[in-house]
Amino acid sequence: MNNLIKPILPILVLASIFSCSPNTSEQEKKDEKSFDEQFRPQYHFSPPQQWMNDPNGMVYLDGEYHLFYQHYPDSNVWGPMHWGHAVSKDLLHWEHLPIALYPDSLGYIFSGSAVIDHGNTTGLGENGKDPMVAIYTYHHDKDGQSQGIAFSNDKGRSWTKYSDNPVLKSPGIPDFRDPKVSWYDQGNGKGKWIMTLAVKDKISFYSSPNLIDWTHESDFNPEWAAYGGVWECPDLFPLEASNGEEKWVLLVSINPGGPNGGSATQYFTGNFDGQQFTTEGQKVKWIDYGADDYAGVTWSNIPKEDGRRLFIGWMSNWQYATIVPTTAWRSAMTLPRELELVSVEGDDRLASRPIRETKGLRSSSESIQGPTHQLKAPLFELELTKANHEKASLTLSNELGEKVVFKIDGDQLAFDRSSSGKTDFEAGFGNLHTAPLSGVDIKSLRVFADRSSLEFFINDGELVMTEIIFPNAPYLKLDFEGFNENAKVHYLASIWDH
Ligand code: FRU
Repeated sequence: MNNLIKPILPILVLASIFSCSPNTSEQEKKDEKSFDEQFRPQYHFSPPQQWMNDPNGMVYLDGEYHLFYQHYPDSNVWGPMHWGHAVSKDLLHWEHLPIALYPDSLGYIFSGSAVIDHGNTTGLGENGKDPMVAIYTYHHDKDGQSQGIAFSNDKGRSWTKYSDNPVLKSPGIPDFRDPKVSWYDQGNGKGKWIMTLAVKDKISFYSSPNLIDWTHESDFNPEWAAYGGVWECPDLFPLEASNGEEKWVLLVSINPGGPNGGSATQYFTGNFDGQQFTTEGQKVKWIDYGADDYAGVTWSNIPKEDGRRLFIGWMSNWQYATIVPTTAWRSAMTLPRELELVSVEGDDRLASRPIRETKGLRSSSESIQGPTHQLKAPLFELELTKANHEKASLTLSNELGEKVVFKIDGDQLAFDRSSSGKTDFEAGFGNLHTAPLSGVDIKSLRVFADRSSLEFFINDGELVMTEIIFPNAPYLKLDFEGFNENAKVHYLASIWDH
């Protein structure tokens, strides 16, 4: 969260109270219930109502993916944080559940993670079962930030806060937050919990035998990393590199200081030995060059047979998150993505591609011929392959003349949303966004269009740009050049019943 937001919060809260006018029309009420409001995402996760930011506590258990999220149920702008909650069997169709965690005397409930406490190391499980444990930050205006835990013995349906919170006290600094906890296997049946924590502009690692008693292990803050703003929402996990070796990946969100302004997530590849993370190379790398993928982390407890490392991000940016032109709810999550390490020019890069389950959303498909194509519906996925020359562009536009342009130009990608529709709620919203190709040899492009977002995946996620947009009419015209002619569009079904 940008500290600048805090002083203007009261004004924003007041503004939002007035904008939730008592004169909401019958049609608007109906739209709200059926998730059919203007700009309401149709296949991305969004909260039923009011404010949402970071994804939290993502964990898989018994056929259900849990998604918790930073939520303020009393307004459509940021305020005293709760953990909202939803579950899904396929990461696309979500069932909204009651709020999981409410603020208490120790503070607001900020971001964090959840694990299945295999072996009941906490002793908080009942009837010989392993509890689900959430580890989150308490934010207290006077006492600072500390870490607390809560547990559930009924698959996340009800939660009890640990009686002796906090489990990791504030060292008296304002930024000490967003614990991501995972089990580190030391072999021979031994292991320990590792907490990856954002501490102002460094990452601290802690270890624990039981999620309750924590010991500081090490810090990570190489001088060449991106430090434009405060470090937030880290994640640490192993992945198999393209040469078959195990590598560790550390995600660190940073706000501001992203490559296209405001919030973004950098990542490091290297090694973690159970105490310390060491990185290779000295290149700042971003998981997504678009303006709208922040605070993303990965799911815990994915079964070994599945083996995927699944990620979801908050599809907004603190630059304008509280003033985007929606009223009933604010913000959505990115498509869930699968992470993979690929090698580009000898360097480990973190590719993120839409999960394969998105194919289940396809309702019909057609071939498209350039340079112009009339689309039949506004929810779609495009698949294009690249022609054998450098420049290419793709324009989506509507009958009002509003448009977005995505370009491959020399050694960079560029995305222009300056004429995309509603843009004047924030001065910088229409700025040109770019991404350096950095050795990526473009062969394919997939684009996912929802009512208020576009996600561009080059070469199955080697380069990604996620962007929100607010067109006043759906984009139904597609113009493209520089791509092969065997392009395809898949129309996608809404996840809501309307
Ligand atoms: C990131 C963040 C986290 C914090 C939460 C508060 O967007 O600022 O660092 O825990 O949001 O809502």
